Amino acid sequence: MKKYIIQGGHPLKGNISVSGSKNATMPILSATLLIDGITRLTNVPDLGDIDIFFELMKRAGAIITPYEKNAFEIDTRNIHTGDVDDSGLEKIRGSQTLLGALLARIGKVTLPSLGGCQIGARPIDIHLNGLKQLGAESSIIKGAVHLEAQKINASHIYLDYPSFGATANLILASCTAQGNTIIENAAQEPEIADLVNFLNKSGAKIYGIGSKTLRITGVERLRPVTHRIMPDRIQASTYMIASAITQGDLTIENISANDFSSVIFKLRETGAEVQIMNMDKIRVSMRQRPMGFKIKTMPFPGFPTDVQSPMLALASLADGMSVIMESVFENRFQVAQELNRMGAKIVYNERMATVIGVENLYGAVVQVQNLRAGASLVLAALAAQGESEILGIEAIERGYDNLDKQLAQCGAEITRMED
Ligand code: EPU
Repeated sequence: MKKYIIQGGHPLKGNISVSGSKNATMPILSATLLIDGITRLTNVPDLGDIDIFFELMKRAGAIITPYEKNAFEIDTRNIHTGDVDDSGLEKIRGSQTLLGALLARIGKVTLPSLGGCQIGARPIDIHLNGLKQLGAESSIIKGAVHLEAQKINASHIYLDYPSFGATANLILASCTAQGNTIIENAAQEPEIADLVNFLNKSGAKIYGIGSKTLRITGVERLRPVTHRIMPDRIQASTYMIASAITQGDLTIENISANDFSSVIFKLRETGAEVQIMNMDKIRVSMRQRPMGFKIKTMPFPGFPTDVQSPMLALASLADGMSVIMESVFENRFQVAQELNRMGAKIVYNERMATVIGVENLYGAVVQVQNLRAGASLVLAALAAQGESEILGIEAIERGYDNLDKQLAQCGAEITRMED
């Protein structure tokens, strides 16, 4: 068991540089499987989920070689199977985009199971409906997803919900199909835009970047390119909240401020001073207790569900009441019971949490249930009086690159321990 020991009560001060985005990296890695050549990716985050993703790609025939810090050459000239055995590996949700990519490259794909954080039922019906319209037949046998298509047929697809994973899969499956595909009600997350930018650089013809309607003219082949993965907007948001909750003063670098306007505006409402220094640098300081606030999570450009749990920690210490509505995943409030053990006053059901702000949180032994819940507990512990033990930090390390070191260099008293 790995854990963090945190002595709370130190305002964070200094600079933090954010790594590349986890949720952009995995779809872009999938996209390299469409290319017959050697792609170079830079700003790849150093995360557990990415290591697992590399293993899955290697099982399909990819050769992956690091050539600089956070930079990899991905040789996809010998992709020979779509049967991606995941035995011996932890299950990750990011593997979902292997479906669209390997279907397009090999014509069939089998993925034993999809994992990821237990934050809701997370079905893949929207993926499968869309892929069916592109000509794929799907079956699920003992939890394994199997897809097969003689040929990908361009199609006009409407998504019942702007699912991030389904949008990525349909882009990947259709960009080398013959003819024109339209995806309506597509996800607009910046990570989808990064995927589209990567593919267009490689020769794809995808129009409507960042909008709800994507038009894809199939091209015969894609060529290898070099691409820098976009900054992680969820890490950036988490560090902004770390500054606010500890009444600190942090400058967060290597960001793209356009990608998280909803978080910037909400933090200002709580009383934080947020100064966009350049579009790639932001300073957040807080001089008093945050004020209570209201948020409702929504697909981009709405308030991101991944930042909801960190905001719950901030709400716990706010002056006044906060109301947080979760509209994306139905099981995101498990963390409230751990925050309550630290002295928070949160009542919640599946979709809504009401938080009566308290003046102080107190150190406690708490258990991480999922990635963003883990971030929330770390933030609460940084602001709490006394010592906290955060157990099960493996989940945090799936999505935050060197979280403990980043915080420690800004004055946090945090130690990582392995039993
Ligand atoms: N949904 C369906 N059917 C589908 C697909 C989705 O009902 O076929 C539902 C889901 O159950 C959920 C909602 O639609 O209630 C949103 O799911 P979406 O498909 O948009 O999300 P995802 O692709 O499963 C990715 C990220 C999540 C992030 C969401 C939303 C990865 C690996 N995961 O998940 O990131 O919260 O998009 O932006 O890219 C995280 O990083 O901690 C994380 C959970």
